[in-house]
Amino acid sequence: MPDLANIRKPVSSEMALFEDYFGKTMKSEIPLLKIIVNYIFRRKGKQMRPLLVFLAAKLNGEIAEPTYVAATFIELLHTASLVHDDVVDDAEERRGALSINALWNSKIAVLVGDYMLSRGLLISIEKNRFDMLEIVSEAVKSMSEGELLQIQKARKLNIKEEDYFKIIRSKTAALLAACTACGARSVTSDPNRIRSMKELGENIGIAFQIRDDLLDYEVKGLTGKVPGNDLKEKKITLPLIHVLEKAPLREKKRILSIVGNGKKSGSDISEVVKFVTDGGGLKYAGIRMNEFRDKALSILDTYPESDARDSLKEFVHYTTSRNK
Ligand code: IPE
Ligand code: IPE
Ligand code: MG
Ligand code: MG
Repeated sequence: MPDLANIRKPVSSEMALFEDYFGKTMKSEIPLLKIIVNYIFRRKGKQMRPLLVFLAAKLNGEIAEPTYVAATFIELLHTASLVHDDVVDDAEERRGALSINALWNSKIAVLVGDYMLSRGLLISIEKNRFDMLEIVSEAVKSMSEGELLQIQKARKLNIKEEDYFKIIRSKTAALLAACTACGARSVTSDPNRIRSMKELGENIGIAFQIRDDLLDYEVKGLTGKVPGNDLKEKKITLPLIHVLEKAPLREKKRILSIVGNGKKSGSDISEVVKFVTDGGGLKYAGIRMNEFRDKALSILDTYPESDARDSLKEFVHYTTSRNK
């Protein structure tokens, strides 16, 4: 099983410096903001995005100051998007602790998310990296569109496989594509390399989100997420979409009425999970996920052998086998 500590090795000193950089940019004079920012900073996530920025940079040249700018900028936007996502999803927990909206309230979470988003945008402007600002702003725009499309589909319970892919491409893969593109952009201006890195990030991102959605059907403990959380939010993801598509109409109606019900019991959730598992939904989603994994690996195969390339390959395997 690949692990992040190993994957980090070729850029471990850079990741340590990044931590410093990231902590400093979050400083504010407003007392409430200080407390909240500190709370967020102490519960860091997996930091997969900055790691991806550094590895993509190293694969394409020498890591330099602009690489840190990109990593910090993107992790700030990612964190802001999670703070907002928990408001949108009415989620109580994040990173194994209470979400900002649960611990304070939604108004505060919206404003803190905005603060982090603008801090991120400002870093790229302070450093005159309008190229990166463009790449990342495109991704942020995409994320909002993806989230809105997801809400619309959840409301109507009529999501198709094609919609699902459109949603995850926008809400997740766009930002991971921005990581690899900005990482490359920080060390080279060769458009072909930047394009190929963007494609790598996009494939990793799609596989990453399918894995995330599969995790919602698995027995938990590690993630700090409640199992069946997506179902509670009426979020229909690939495993369920696939099984619904081939289910007889009566069964389909029954499952959709459970999913559409705002108050689901534990046994309702178990029934849907069993329907998905028995219908081969988890297996199917796993197969689709691995197609994107393999596409990512084949892009990496066009690069000469190096420690950064090895780590990126392991990163791809980690993405599709992770348990949190
Ligand atoms: C969570 O991303 C949001 C999704 C795109 C599913 P991560 O799982 O990378 O979140 P952290 O940063 O490690 O908490
Ligand atoms: C995470 O999406 C937020 C974005 C990708 C913008 P989800 O709502 O699917 O993920 P979790 O489960 O809350 O991390
Ligand atoms: Mg969520
Ligand atoms: Mg969400």
